Amino acid sequence: MKKIQRLLMATLLFSGTSICAQQMPDAKMKPFIDKLMKQMTLQEKLGQLNLPGSGDIVTGQAGNTDIAAKIRSGKVGGLFNIKGVEKIREVQRLAVEQSRLKIPLIFGMDVIHGYRTVFPIPLGLSATWDLKAIERSAQIAAQEASADGISWTFSPMVDIARDPRWGRMAEGAGEDAFLGGQVAKAMVQGYQGKSLKANNTIMSCVKHFALYGAPDGGRDYNTTDMSRYRMYNEYFPPYKAAVDAGVGSVMASFNDVDGIPATANKWLMTDVLRKQWGFGGFVVTDYTGIPEMVEHGIGDTATANVLALAAGIDMDMVGEGFVNTIAPSLKAGRVTVAQIDAACRRILEAKYKLGLFEDPYRYCDVSRPAKEIYTASNRKEARTIATQSFVLLKNEGNVLPLKRGGKIALVGPLADNRENMPGTWSVAADFSTAVSVLDGLKAVAGTATQIVYARGSNLDYDAKFEERAGMFGKDLRRDNRPTEQIIAEAVAAVKEADVVVAAVGESAEMSGECSSLTNIEIPQAQKDLLKALKATGKPVVVLLFAGRSMAISEEAKEYPAILNVWFPGSEAGYAIADVLFGDANPSGKLSTTWPQNVGQVPLFYNYKNTGRPLPKGQWFQKFKTNYLDVTNEPQYPFGFGLSYTNFSYGPLNLNNTTLKGNQTLTASVAVTNTGNVTGQEVVQLYIRDLVGSTTRPVKELKGFEKIELKAGETKTVSFAITPELLKFYNYNLKYDWEPGDFEIMVGTNSQTVESKRVKWLK
Ligand code: BGC
Repeated sequence: MKKIQRLLMATLLFSGTSICAQQMPDAKMKPFIDKLMKQMTLQEKLGQLNLPGSGDIVTGQAGNTDIAAKIRSGKVGGLFNIKGVEKIREVQRLAVEQSRLKIPLIFGMDVIHGYRTVFPIPLGLSATWDLKAIERSAQIAAQEASADGISWTFSPMVDIARDPRWGRMAEGAGEDAFLGGQVAKAMVQGYQGKSLKANNTIMSCVKHFALYGAPDGGRDYNTTDMSRYRMYNEYFPPYKAAVDAGVGSVMASFNDVDGIPATANKWLMTDVLRKQWGFGGFVVTDYTGIPEMVEHGIGDTATANVLALAAGIDMDMVGEGFVNTIAPSLKAGRVTVAQIDAACRRILEAKYKLGLFEDPYRYCDVSRPAKEIYTASNRKEARTIATQSFVLLKNEGNVLPLKRGGKIALVGPLADNRENMPGTWSVAADFSTAVSVLDGLKAVAGTATQIVYARGSNLDYDAKFEERAGMFGKDLRRDNRPTEQIIAEAVAAVKEADVVVAAVGESAEMSGECSSLTNIEIPQAQKDLLKALKATGKPVVVLLFAGRSMAISEEAKEYPAILNVWFPGSEAGYAIADVLFGDANPSGKLSTTWPQNVGQVPLFYNYKNTGRPLPKGQWFQKFKTNYLDVTNEPQYPFGFGLSYTNFSYGPLNLNNTTLKGNQTLTASVAVTNTGNVTGQEVVQLYIRDLVGSTTRPVKELKGFEKIELKAGETKTVSFAITPELLKFYNYNLKYDWEPGDFEIMVGTNSQTVESKRVKWLK
């Protein structure tokens, strides 16, 4: 045992017994923490609840920072968003050598979709519908982050998002509770692995609890007001799935939930999370979540802190209110020692579970970064997963894949840009090595293919908008020449080409935090470029970058091919080229509904029928639920995505049509690849509960399977349906199923399904 570990164990155990903490079974956790807490002063306990902003810590200088003084005096429980083994080691040393009780710090970070090797944005990851791939991406992220000193990630974000005006749709798994729950579980498992004590796993933090994805008007941080029925059935399942998967921590959301900010919402943080779901980890606020409650209007700073602690919040991110105001509040009888102790215990338990008491430098092995971060094999996996996330929205006349040889014109503001490829929340990315579309096409095309490039347009006509959309170093390198000149240059380049690839859409920071939009179309400057390109008579492939569902009905009409690539990560250009040239076949399917226009928002596949449904296939009927100016249909439905091959579905077979009690219904379908190349298809199962004690959605996703089929190959996919899949929360929030008639639907997306009815009795 190294000197520091010995010191630590001696201090913490202060007994003659030489218990090796490394082998301490979990039963030892409680006595260990009991003993430790007995030694702690009130201030030291409150210190554990404090997660201050780390400021600018420079390696070699950590000891001189303001934060160092706080760490030495036991006023800090953890730090976040500092990276690098050397730096983290240095800061940890302050805690475990220079503070009285030598309690190690926990180091968190927003490791959202990869670390230095960046995977597609989470919305893109969810579009793979490949849970193994998603889990693997989190595993690699954990491996790399832990090699760089980090032991805790603020991920996954599982907020259901049905409103694409909200920019943070990019960070979640889309609009559906079932898919969202599966993805949440895969991510938590990927980060935490089998043991949190392994040095290549990290603690996960599911966020933002709760309902952060449903702000009024799609405006970030805005108020949420929702029926409990909808919460439990449509928004809570992914949070619960993360809890069921053993997530170590939960982050409270910024928003007001039914009149009480989530951060002070005892019903959410204690009744639902701990009592109903049995969550045993700790809850951290979001960034300054507690002091922001003064603006919400629930009282002054001291009151906000009292309410947060009473609600069940354990750790205060950046606010520093727990450490500064709770002691006087205790004196005034506004909080109890039991509340402080409970929170402190949960933080210490998290550190214990991570093995930090045994070895505070567990994640600080200086030899690891070079071997484990941004390795060739991690990058290879990121490239493959990215190709699986792309959604082919249109491919008329098989414009795609591109043929090698000949001349390809690559145009658009996102064509020759590295910084934007990793997407929002890629804090550990190295933009200089991210692969642009131009880099990727050149590398993958082969020498027989000529690539000509022209910029063609800026992201937006408005330079100020472009600035806001290019934050965090994601520069768009604005071209200040006159628009006509920029377009003319592109048109000239296109003249000689066989095909045009137009890299257009959103910049990375047009989605993500505080990136709400009221216009979710492609910016006008780029639309004008597309029109000019079309006028050349060359086939135009729209290579779309998107961090949300976009409204692209115009482009869907005008251009023969649209490949939506989200933000693919550090290997973007390679993955894009792989798919453009057909080396990889796109297999992504949308995890959100894409509306025709923003006025339809929120639009989602699992809506309620209403008493005045519009008959299928119709547009407008007076006194039916519809719009005067646009049909009710989405542009692209949930679950939609094409392939370079075709899949045909055989008839839906049910092994039974009248069931009773806990029987299992098997729904199966034979799927055949009728095209010429190998492809992957996501076969989807939906169920409708035709009559309920509460109204039920017209369909709900209840299963899916991604299969690979060679050309000509047929596979049968079977879904085992038990009453478990029929359960929902009724009006009294009792989770059960109700007997009656059900529609079983299987198909290639949420709209194209074959449907059969069954009767299921209790
Ligand atoms: C975001 C969180 C994030 C936190 C820490 C906040 O602004 O809402 O998602 O984890 O910052 O960086």
